[in-house]
Amino acid sequence: MLRAEGPVQEVHLPRGLKVWLVTRYEEAKVALTDPRISKNILAGSHVFERHSPPDADRRMFDQALTVHMLNMDPPGHTRLRKLVTKAFTARRIELMRPRVEEIAADLIAKMADGTEVDLLEDFAFPLPITVICELLGIPIDNRDEFRAWSNTLLSYGTQEQIAHAGAAMAQFLFEHVDRIAAAEPTDDFFSALVHADDSGDRLDRNELVSMAFLLLVAGHETTVNLIGNAVLALLRNTDQLQILKDRPELIAASAEEFLRLEGPVNIATFRYTTEPVELGGVTIPAEELVMVSLIAANRDPERYADADKLDVTRDARGHVAFGHGIHFCLGAPLARLEFDVALTALLKRFPGIELAAEPETLAWRDSTLIRGLLTLPVRLS
Ligand code: HEM
Repeated sequence: MLRAEGPVQEVHLPRGLKVWLVTRYEEAKVALTDPRISKNILAGSHVFERHSPPDADRRMFDQALTVHMLNMDPPGHTRLRKLVTKAFTARRIELMRPRVEEIAADLIAKMADGTEVDLLEDFAFPLPITVICELLGIPIDNRDEFRAWSNTLLSYGTQEQIAHAGAAMAQFLFEHVDRIAAAEPTDDFFSALVHADDSGDRLDRNELVSMAFLLLVAGHETTVNLIGNAVLALLRNTDQLQILKDRPELIAASAEEFLRLEGPVNIATFRYTTEPVELGGVTIPAEELVMVSLIAANRDPERYADADKLDVTRDARGHVAFGHGIHFCLGAPLARLEFDVALTALLKRFPGIELAAEPETLAWRDSTLIRGLLTLPVRLS
């Protein structure tokens, strides 16, 4: 409704925070690339809501979890992104396919015909978290802890709850980084990053912890919900499910349509203005928050015909579910690979999969950033 009224509007979020909400595709792309609309949280922290002076947990959070590329503009962003770009190209990521397939096969082997399971818990969550933990060299036994911390960080918790979860995560990651720094260098991605200095550059301890934090959270809070949202959309649109069952070779490309329609980070991404910016006929004053709604942009009827409809054969490329411009998702090739492997394996083994609850009764995560279900009960066959 807001999008129909205009591309940019002043709105107030549930806890009272005022933001400028961008809802149309063209304006969203401009907002994501205009250098006057900044991602530099460190310089702009006064713009963000803070109720009380930082306590010890908050200081730990600020110092150790915020110095990552998604919180920076160039040149800081350019420097950090350059150090990891090579490891995430589509070609490098494709080399991980056999391992991702093995992880998916192991998870599927544990699920039995005729049973009812929470597909998020038993499949969509463990797959990406295992992959990203292996990439970072983090023992998988800690994954339930991360999940709890990370859920708190991305939800409407109190400032104290968020800072507390952040501090616990930071503490854990400091120990992890120190352990890798003390060990002999290996060819593994994260070891190479900790010991890197071939370009004359290396990350300091806080930067390493922040990088690990960003990859860990971005690497699992997202793909789990891409898989979950896609399976739900298919179970609610069985004609579309049938198309993918008949032609599994379409699954890889259909990822773009699920990202467009039900992308996991689709609700919004934040930035702030460093000077007054005119956007979509509205002047946003300096030092104000801008919230770009990727889901509204991706369903803009000016950009996509029948935009609210799932069409797995649509060419949905050009969506902004992975962002746009310099912050375009670093993990996009990995997310696409995981989606392809997960859906292909699932539909092959359980072509008779069905929803085990009324769609209206399913509960969604309480978050401004993440669009994802709390549980996805399905019956397998
Ligand atoms: C950035 C979405 C998976 C790592 C982003 C952004 C979006 C996004 C929208 C840009 C945010 C902005 O501009 O404000 C997604 C979606 C995913 C996904 C929808 C899955 C379906 C992943 C994975 C990883 C990852 C698997 C890591 C392994 C990153 C990183 C950035 C990023 C590091 C920051 C890039 C930069 O600042 O230059 N992602 N992501 N993402 N994503 Fe993803």
